[in-house]
Amino acid sequence: MEYHLQTQAVHAGREDFRELGVHAPPLDLSTTYPMRSLQSGRDSIDQLSAGGAQAESAIYARLHNQTVFRYECAFAQMEQAEAGIAFASGMAAIHAVLLSMRVRDLEDVVKRNHIVAVRPIYGCTDHLLSCGLLGFDVEWVTADQIGAAITAQTALVVVETPANPTLTLMDLANVMRQAGAVPVMVDNTFATPILQQPLTLGATFSVHSGTKYLGGHGDVLSGLVATNNMWAARVRQVRILTGGNLHPMAAYLLHRSLPTLPLRVLKAQENAILLAERIATHPAIAAVYFPGLGASDPTDIVGRQMKGPGSVIAFEMRGGFAAAAKTMDSTELFLAAVSLGSTDSLIEHPAGLTHRIVSQEGRNTSGITEGLLRIAVGIEFVEDLWQDLKQALDTAFAAVAE
Ligand SMILES: Cc1ncc(COP(=O)(O)O)c(C=O)c1O
Repeated sequence: MEYHLQTQAVHAGREDFRELGVHAPPLDLSTTYPMRSLQSGRDSIDQLSAGGAQAESAIYARLHNQTVFRYECAFAQMEQAEAGIAFASGMAAIHAVLLSMRVRDLEDVVKRNHIVAVRPIYGCTDHLLSCGLLGFDVEWVTADQIGAAITAQTALVVVETPANPTLTLMDLANVMRQAGAVPVMVDNTFATPILQQPLTLGATFSVHSGTKYLGGHGDVLSGLVATNNMWAARVRQVRILTGGNLHPMAAYLLHRSLPTLPLRVLKAQENAILLAERIATHPAIAAVYFPGLGASDPTDIVGRQMKGPGSVIAFEMRGGFAAAAKTMDSTELFLAAVSLGSTDSLIEHPAGLTHRIVSQEGRNTSGITEGLLRIAVGIEFVEDLWQDLKQALDTAFAAVAE
């Protein structure tokens, strides 16, 4: 029987609990594992180092861990993916996908060194692609220029939707059409699999900072990749060799957060819809960027590609940097802090913080101005949130008008 995503979130990765006689996922903290015989150990190493998901012996925790694997399977189910691969952070996950383009057995792909990417995108992803550290030749284009930018050397197309920090939306069907046979990596952090499942739309990779909604409580740094079995084998090989593994305790916490993921995402979204409408009417505001507002979603991505607008809002202050700083420094309930997707509400200044590392040119292209603020709406009582935001906006408006 096919269950609703909300039911799957509660039960995924727990299918064998009756058989095991447990009601919470077993937490395996081993760093090394016994093998039945030397021959079994040799076979297991061969399987795991070729990117296999599991083997008779886990051998060593950098190769496999049962608690992590259990969560990976649950996460893959949420994304409707063949496989999930967990990492120590979102950046480790993105790094591994990029490096998987170079895994040796893909002779044809190894020769390809060109990446086509679209801004805006999370600041460190932007910098990782731009700074040359990994040796790829990266070409930044607009969403409509992807097809024209692709050459025989293109290994990967990189997009993020909704994009950090301006919530810019991308029509993934259009991206896939342009990409053709070239794999597409979608950063799905802001939407979560509850609102958007990129693999069902033709993406090869859906990546997440699990630190955000998947963890959901601000206490687990993590990254996830959802993909098909062929690419999963390559991504696992990169993980074995570069060691950006997720700690089993972190996987346990992620798994603990999964049953409430739909509830948290939907409640925060409900709050955000109300706040976005109210923010738009405040005299201190020049523009609001939120997929739930018509102007931010001219092609009806919400409803067609996403089940809802999510719960991150960006807005431009009329008074520029001074007004943005005053607003951020005046909130009490909204915590002045980077990150998002936690139960509590956060406020941050992208140009000064999350996207500070991006080049000035990149920030200009991305619409990241000094007057832009980003809020991540939590699951608090919405009127308390509005009261706090309104007093901060009033304070900024008065200060800048002086
Ligand atoms: C959209 C997006 N992708 C990736 C990352 C990187 O994830 P992490 O901080 O877990 O490494 C972030 C972090 O803020 C993000 O917002």
